[in-house]
Amino acid sequence: MQPIRLQMEYQVTIKETHSHALRINPSSAKEAEEKRREIYSNEEIAFDYSDQFSDVLAKAKEETLTPYYRSKDCDFTLFNGDCFELLPRLNFKFDMIFADPPYFLSNDGISVQSGKIVSVNKGEWDKGGTPEQIKNFNKRWIKFCHDKLKEDGTIWITGTYHNIFSVANCLTELGFKILNVITWAKNNPPPNISCRYFTYSTEFIIWARKYEKKPHKFNYETMKLLNGGTQMTDVWRIPAVGMWEKACGKHPTQKPLRLLYRIILASTNEGDTILDPFAGSSTTGIAANLLGRKFIGIEQEQEFVELSYRRRELLDNSVEAQKLLKKMRETPEEIMVLVNHARPKDYQLMIEKGICYLRAGDSKGSLLVQKGFERLGYVLLHTNGDNPQLYPLTKKGFQIWTAESLQELGFSAEHAPYYAVLCFDSSNPILYDQPVNLHQRTYTNVVKIKPLSDFIRIK
Ligand SMILES: C[S@@+](CC[C@H](N)C(=O)[O-])C[C@H]1O[C@@H](n2cnc3c(N)ncnc32)[C@H](O)[C@@H]1O
Repeated sequence: MQPIRLQMEYQVTIKETHSHALRINPSSAKEAEEKRREIYSNEEIAFDYSDQFSDVLAKAKEETLTPYYRSKDCDFTLFNGDCFELLPRLNFKFDMIFADPPYFLSNDGISVQSGKIVSVNKGEWDKGGTPEQIKNFNKRWIKFCHDKLKEDGTIWITGTYHNIFSVANCLTELGFKILNVITWAKNNPPPNISCRYFTYSTEFIIWARKYEKKPHKFNYETMKLLNGGTQMTDVWRIPAVGMWEKACGKHPTQKPLRLLYRIILASTNEGDTILDPFAGSSTTGIAANLLGRKFIGIEQEQEFVELSYRRRELLDNSVEAQKLLKKMRETPEEIMVLVNHARPKDYQLMIEKGICYLRAGDSKGSLLVQKGFERLGYVLLHTNGDNPQLYPLTKKGFQIWTAESLQELGFSAEHAPYYAVLCFDSSNPILYDQPVNLHQRTYTNVVKIKPLSDFIRIK
């Protein structure tokens, strides 16, 4: 092996918890460590996690691999090369690995895309070999990934029938424990032009942890919340990649950001570090950074590292980043929240009775049928923007009550003859950490429907 060129860059961010950040630029890892000790002799001060991340490259076996690109905040590092060569040289353990390896389905077949007949070939990297060659290929890179995972780390690997059985066998043989096989059901698959079998509309994603017996991270409550309060199943309905995700260029097998959003949210926490050894256009890195996670990717094709670079640079524009984050968090089946203002007296009574109401029909302030009404799963009660409380609905849909029947219960329903009534579980308030500023609008008391992702934790 060629001796490795040393190109070291040390950026150590030291943060005194919650007060201020201090950036130093020492010339070596040793000097960085000395500076750190000098400035912070008090051992009780917690260092920010990003410290350790900046050290990844500095520490790599006395060598530093030169990345093709590193974002200004060091949260996104991309290597241009062969993962078989680079993986063993990364001296770092990751919290999670997402791998979208070649499926080996470039077999000169044809498919339909936007009404046109196209070849299914993706590139040289996707051309298959014998089953044995495919197995060797998978076993080698999965073994490297095993070495690079933390003890409680998990790996997600995508595939279709062409590669997924081989991947599953390799995982088991290498000591991983398979946790789930997610079926990703696309609601907009390309048609089957032979008309001799069913349309392919699914892909599989194996989720496995490093060891049989060591516990792994799973943000169960967040997934349940996203699923409207019931356990999320292993069938995920997420559309195929959209045009809005291809503004910087296209990758032939680009994964949707929405898929990565769910995967990352399910199995990592803010500040965690994620590896993608077959990064492609770096969908994993984009989703990771939008969610406050760090990313290291490896991609062998120049064309795709350039595309990744353009995608990541766009995130430095905070308006663009916010737009992407919002789009990524919405799905066509997303659970919605009814944001409902109540007068202080009614607010208390609503919580006591577990019901809330809004004007029905076309009277002023009523909620006419709006997009998302059929997917309501939660109600957020507030009084003029204050005291917001999020509760799960106990019944899907609503009932129509007369004003008199509400007044009999003590409510001051006096502006309309009929009201739409929804029942919620007031004993089960939902904690959320994405406060929506309800004071922002002039008409705070107009009822609204908002996506649940506006409220839930991404930390
Ligand atoms: C299925 S694509 C990944 C697409 C990616 N998930 C995205 O959303 O853009 C697989 C990628 O792995 C790259 N690749 C294949 N073999 C590789 C290797 N040995 N080392 C690094 N990259 C490789 C290919 O160039 C291709 O871009």
